[in-house]
Amino acid sequence: MDKFSFARRTNWQQETNALNKAFEELQAQGIPVIDLTASNPTSCGFLYPEGMLSVLTKEENFHYQPDACGMVSARKVVAQHYTCQQLHVSPSDIVLTASTSEAYSFLMRLLVNPGEKVLIPRPSYPLFQFLLEINDVAFDYYPLQYEGGRWCLDLQALERLVDAKTRAIILVNPNNPTGSYISRAELNFLNEFCRKHQVSIISDEVFFEYSLIPSDAVSCAGNKAILTFTLGGLSKTIGLPQMKCAWILASGPQEALKESLARLETIADTYLSVNTPVQNALSVWLDYAPEIQGQIISRVKANWQWLSDHLNEHAELLSLQGGWYATLRIPAIKSEEEWVLEFLREDHVWVYPGYFFDFEREAYIVLSLLPPAPVFQKAVGLIMKRLSKI
Ligand SMILES: Cc1ncc(COP(=O)(O)O)c(C=O)c1O
Repeated sequence: MDKFSFARRTNWQQETNALNKAFEELQAQGIPVIDLTASNPTSCGFLYPEGMLSVLTKEENFHYQPDACGMVSARKVVAQHYTCQQLHVSPSDIVLTASTSEAYSFLMRLLVNPGEKVLIPRPSYPLFQFLLEINDVAFDYYPLQYEGGRWCLDLQALERLVDAKTRAIILVNPNNPTGSYISRAELNFLNEFCRKHQVSIISDEVFFEYSLIPSDAVSCAGNKAILTFTLGGLSKTIGLPQMKCAWILASGPQEALKESLARLETIADTYLSVNTPVQNALSVWLDYAPEIQGQIISRVKANWQWLSDHLNEHAELLSLQGGWYATLRIPAIKSEEEWVLEFLREDHVWVYPGYFFDFEREAYIVLSLLPPAPVFQKAVGLIMKRLSKI
C-alpha cells in the first residue's frame, strides 16, 4: 500500500531527543531525578483552598446557555480582575478561550493569511513554532538583548525584520524564561512602529502578576494607540492549568477594535470551547488569586535568593524582573546539550538547555523556581559542585 500522505504542516520530527532518552533510561533504572524543569504548579506542593473545588458542584452547571465570547457574568469577573492593575476594562472587549494556546490560534485566524508572518521574541516560549506552524503562519525571530544587566528589545532588528507581510508582533510580558517586562519607552516605540507598519500587538501577559522586584514594567492591557490583544489565563493567574480558561482582552482604535471583536466572536462561536462549570466558578476562583500568587511568589523569591547566594565563579545569574524561571550562563567549554546530559546522568538533576528557548548563543541553562526549597537547594548544590570541577 502507498504511504499515507499527511498535511505537510505535521511533518514534525518524531524521535525522542537525547535528553528525554537519558531521562527515560534513569527512570527505567528506578533512579529518582530532581526535576528543575517543573513548571506545572499543581505538582509543586502549593496549597489550593478547598473552596475552589466545592464551587464546581453548583446546580447552575446543568444549564447550558452558550455565548460565543464567554458568559457575560464570567467576562465581567475577568474585567473586574483588571482593576488590580488599576485598569477599567469593558467585559465586551473580552473573549474567553480554553487556553492561551487557543487564544493564539484564534488571533492567527483573525489576523494572518497563509504566507503572511508575525514577529516573535528570541529567546522565548518554545511553543510558538508549533502554535504558528499549525496555523500556517510564517514567523521571524526578533532578538531580546541582554545589555548592562537588563533584557531589552532590539529596536533596530525590529525595523529590519518588518515588511509588508508582517501582521503582528508577539510580546511575552514578562518573557519566559528571561523574566523581562516591556518598559514604557519600549511600548511607546512599539506603538509608533506598529502604527507605521500596520501591525497589531499580541501581548502574552500570563505571568504579569508575578513581578519579583519593583520595575518600570507596563502592561499592554487597554493599550489604545493600536490594535492590541492582551492574553491572560487561569494557568498562571491561579496556578490551575487544568481548568482550561484563558482570555483575550482587545483594545485599540474604535473602528478596528469593533471589527476585530465581531470577527473574533464568529471564530469563538465556531468552537464554543469554554466549559460552563469553569465560567461559573470564575468569580470565586479569582478571589483566591492573591492567596495562590502569594504562595508562588514567596517560593520563587526564596529560591531565586538562595540561588543568587550560592553561585560559584562559573555561573552567572542573569537578572530577572518577574516570572517563574532563572537563567544561568555557564562556561561554553561544552555544548548546552552535553552540560544538561551530564547534570542528568551524573547528578540526576534535570534542567532546561538554553537552546530549548532559542537563546542565540551557548551556554545557558534555565531552572524553574517553582520546586519546594529543599528540592531546589539540593539540585542547585549539585549543579554548583559539578561546575566547580571545571
Ligand atoms: C508565555 C506562556 N504563555 C502561555 C502559556 C500557556 O498558557 P495556557 O495553559 O493558558 O495555554 C505558557 C505556559 O507555560 C507560557 O509560558
